[in-house]
Amino acid sequence: MDVFQVRGGIPLEGEVRVCGAKNAALPILAATTMVRGVTRIDDVPDLEDVRVMLEILRRLGAKAEFVSAGLVEVDATDISSTNVPDELMQKMRSSIFLMGPLLARFGEVRVSKPGGCVIGQRPIDYHLRGMRELGASIEERHGYIRCFAHRLVGTELTLDFPSVGATENLMMAAVLADGETVIENAAREPEIVDLARFLQSCGAVVTGAGEHRMVIHGVHHLSGASHRVIPDRIVAGTLLLAAAVTRGSVVLRNVEPLHLMAVLGKMRESGLHLRVLRDIIACEMSDEFSAVDIRTEPFPGFPTDLQAPFMSLSALAKGTSVFRENVFEARYKHVDELVRMGADISVDLRTAVVRGVSKMSGATVCATDLRGGAALVVAALAAEGLTELRGLQHIDRGYEFLDRQLSMLGADVIRTQVSR
Ligand code: UD1
Repeated sequence: MDVFQVRGGIPLEGEVRVCGAKNAALPILAATTMVRGVTRIDDVPDLEDVRVMLEILRRLGAKAEFVSAGLVEVDATDISSTNVPDELMQKMRSSIFLMGPLLARFGEVRVSKPGGCVIGQRPIDYHLRGMRELGASIEERHGYIRCFAHRLVGTELTLDFPSVGATENLMMAAVLADGETVIENAAREPEIVDLARFLQSCGAVVTGAGEHRMVIHGVHHLSGASHRVIPDRIVAGTLLLAAAVTRGSVVLRNVEPLHLMAVLGKMRESGLHLRVLRDIIACEMSDEFSAVDIRTEPFPGFPTDLQAPFMSLSALAKGTSVFRENVFEARYKHVDELVRMGADISVDLRTAVVRGVSKMSGATVCATDLRGGAALVVAALAAEGLTELRGLQHIDRGYEFLDRQLSMLGADVIRTQVSR
């Protein structure tokens, strides 16, 4: 079993480049299945989820591979299957993104039901309702979902909650539908805008991406294009928090500060000195950091994906912070592990009260989800002594070579194997 062994207490110093965003790259790769011709996607992070998505594309009959560092080429002209392989679907929730594109281009798709998830139920009812409203028939049987439609027809869709995944899936389905589709209460995350830009460069007609109301005029086909994925705002935030918690001073390149406004605001409030210049953010931590309250919200609010890593900073802050998780119902799985490291945190449903302590200590801890795992890395960098972090398969899903990046900033992190 792979583990990180982290010896905490070293201030991070230096400069690193932030990779492209996983949450933008995955739906864009799914969207390539609608394109006849070659698409080139640059700054794709080399992550387990991305490799699973490329394997799915190949199993459907597309050519899809990394041709050089960060650059993926896909040719989906000759796709021969619309059945997303069950074992790959189980490996990655994001394979649900293939529903919209395959249904739109081929009039049918079969996916298996994505399982539950440790951060909450994560249903796909908005996706299915939207597909039905676009004219698809849906059969759910034996754990499979089969959707088919002679033609999808544009209509007005209203989401109960601005779900990122549902907005992306429905936007992709609508791109090749007949006529106009309106998505009301659409998610406004930067990854939505990036997907829309990619689709536009392939010939799609999408307006209003990044706003509450999106309008999509269906076209007959999409053709090959090149696209560069936006920087990963969650990786950037995690690295800034790692610098902050170690009282370090770090410069990040390839960031989009506008995607991080709520996060940078909370970091400043807690005492982090930040300098922002175009696509560069430099940070330096003052001696003592203060408690701040965090409420997660859809973009442009504070992102749920940084709630856990921020909590590791709050655990060591002066005073008491109150966290309120408004996006997922069960996203505090990291708390027990932080408490094992000496944090003082109590949870009541969606609220966590974090009473800052003066130090945490290394322990053997286990990540149970991606961002919870990142929180444990942040905590380990500040803790006294050695932390052994297990469950790296979760962290590998979203952070490209995190151990190497942190080592470049001077952290004492090694990836090694231990027997169970
Ligand atoms: C995406 C991100 C994830 C992030 C989340 C919220 C990707 C690959 N993942 O996940 O990192 O934490 O957005 O910013 O981009 N919901 C329903 N029914 C649905 C769909 C969603 O009830 O059909 C609920 C969910 O249970 C959740 C909320 O809506 O409580 C938000 O989920 P959603 O925005 O869809 O998250 P994902 O797209 O799964």
